[in-house]
Amino acid sequence: MTAQMPLPPECDAVLYSAEQIAEATDALGAQLTRAYTGEQLRLLSVLKGGLMFMADLARAVQLDVTMDFLAVQPYGPGARGAVRVTKDLDDDIADSRVVLVEDIVDTGLTLNYLLNLIKGHGPRSVDVCTLIDKPARRIAQIDVAFRGFEAPDRFLVGYGLDLGGKYRNLPYVATVRDEVMGL
Ligand code: IMP
Ligand code: MG
Repeated sequence: MTAQMPLPPECDAVLYSAEQIAEATDALGAQLTRAYTGEQLRLLSVLKGGLMFMADLARAVQLDVTMDFLAVQPYGPGARGAVRVTKDLDDDIADSRVVLVEDIVDTGLTLNYLLNLIKGHGPRSVDVCTLIDKPARRIAQIDVAFRGFEAPDRFLVGYGLDLGGKYRNLPYVATVRDEVMGL
């Protein structure tokens, strides 16, 4: 995993190295282990961005966990977080302790929508665990219980995060040049 993946031409720098991500993930895993000791924990994540983080986080939690995935399609730029669910949860989460595992929280609108959807299934509790929190552009007030990094207001790729579908497989997280984003 330490093999160097060259920085894509659209990017200007590595923000979080694979080693820093692994450290942050282990620390979050330990926090979840402490917070849910003695409980059966349901980890839910959102495809596709949450895939890498979910896989590594689940292995850093020393508890009985189940893993389930949602897939969503945004309705568009004006949708204010409203999404169409293209793959619903497989498991019944009623009365469960749930942690929603996210790659990144930006405006928080998507997460807010998903949290309401999940709460509709009647879980006992829902906490949010995100690898990256970008608080600068937050619109929806949401409580992020567990976070790995607080990132600057830049567009990021790698470790699940994409630019037009590309670069999810980078083992690190990099910043995209402002020119590429039309800034
Ligand atoms: P929201 O603005 O918090 O609703 O974020 C919605 C989604 O936008 C996230 O789950 C990501 O899929 C995507 N997103 C937000 N910021 C970034 C970024 O910096 N890079 C790649 N995707 C992002
Ligand atoms: Mg996401």
